[in-house]
Amino acid sequence: MTIIVTGGAGFIGSNFIFYMMKAHPDYRLVCLDKLTYAGNLSTLKGVLDMPSFRFVRGDICDRDLVYSLFDEEHPDAVVNFAAESHVDRSILDPSLFLQTNIIGTSVLMDAARRAGNIRFHQISTDEVYGDLPLDRKDLFFTETTPLHTSSPYSSSKAAADLLALSYHRTYGLPVTISRCSNNYGPYHFPEKLIPLMIINALKGKSLPVYGQGINVRDWLYVEDHCRAVDLILHKGRIGEVYNVGGHNEMRNIDIVRIILRQLGKSEDLITFVEDRKGHDLRYAIDPQKISSELGWLPETKFEDGIRKTIKWYLDNESWWQEIIDGEYQDYYERMYSGRLEPR
Ligand SMILES: NC(=O)c1ccc[n+]([C@@H]2O[C@H](COP(=O)([O-])OP(=O)(O)OC[C@H]3O[C@@H](n4cnc5c(N)ncnc54)[C@H](O)[C@@H]3O)[C@@H](O)[C@H]2O)c1
Repeated sequence: MTIIVTGGAGFIGSNFIFYMMKAHPDYRLVCLDKLTYAGNLSTLKGVLDMPSFRFVRGDICDRDLVYSLFDEEHPDAVVNFAAESHVDRSILDPSLFLQTNIIGTSVLMDAARRAGNIRFHQISTDEVYGDLPLDRKDLFFTETTPLHTSSPYSSSKAAADLLALSYHRTYGLPVTISRCSNNYGPYHFPEKLIPLMIINALKGKSLPVYGQGINVRDWLYVEDHCRAVDLILHKGRIGEVYNVGGHNEMRNIDIVRIILRQLGKSEDLITFVEDRKGHDLRYAIDPQKISSELGWLPETKFEDGIRKTIKWYLDNESWWQEIIDGEYQDYYERMYSGRLEPR
């Protein structure tokens, strides 16, 4: 089986490539990635020379490139991780999010149709459901929760989901969609909450926490997400959406405290900064459908996952140091300078 994995130089896509190489050593994996600021070829250095792997630098919006790649590779399936994925960046400039997340997905699906309606899996997010109130612990996102987006990022992902479902209904494209909660683990880009806090704590820098840090996210170790996608790709029902998450709700501030404790650093490093615009309060997934239909349940407990993640960042300083020495630094300054006053 040949699978085109888009966005495979990013956080979850790279972990998916590593996971699939182990789980299905006979598969051929072709990674198509534009290498934006979030894509890092060094992440893939361990697999670049493997005969069952090919890396192609390119934009999923580039129709000619995508069509010729499909003509060369004759893929059996596409898993689309490629996206602009950071909410804060979508608030600064939504246009690229619409281009990559919506138009790019449609180009890939057109290529999948042109290649004979091959299997297409769209990686989506629980953010398409908007948020839940903090004081209603009984409420969870199910696959029938109405889409109710808050940011240009989540709106672009919701649009891509609707487009994917329409390609299934209109053209019979064998589509599935997974909507996952927040992932954490190795190779997570330093602008996201968990790596940002680990790295700043290691450097003895202040840890900027939005608002009061009471926003709740449902955290999933990235490998559990990869296993879910593998299952959906092979056994999921066509035309269906599957929520992926593991009843692992944590407040941002509690995660920051756990990281500081594990690194033996003081809580004085925490600095509360002005809240994100439209900041979603709580996300919480009900994974009943994927567990009853496909037998999926998360395997990594948060205590173990965060320990492994912190260890990974300690052992792989050169990976993240290269990133923060580069263009990311300007972005970091723009986002947080002027917000770092204690409140
Ligand atoms: N990170 C999370 O917690 C999370 C949770 C749920 C869903 N998701 C979804 O999972 C997917 C992957 O997320 P991530 O956190 O790994 O993102 P990421 O930002 O780490 O990686 C995105 C990758 O896509 C590539 N890319 C961006 N635009 C491209 C384009 N036009 N053409 C080709 N490649 C392009 C980038 O170079 C990068 O390698 C996204 O679709 C995201 O919406 C992420």
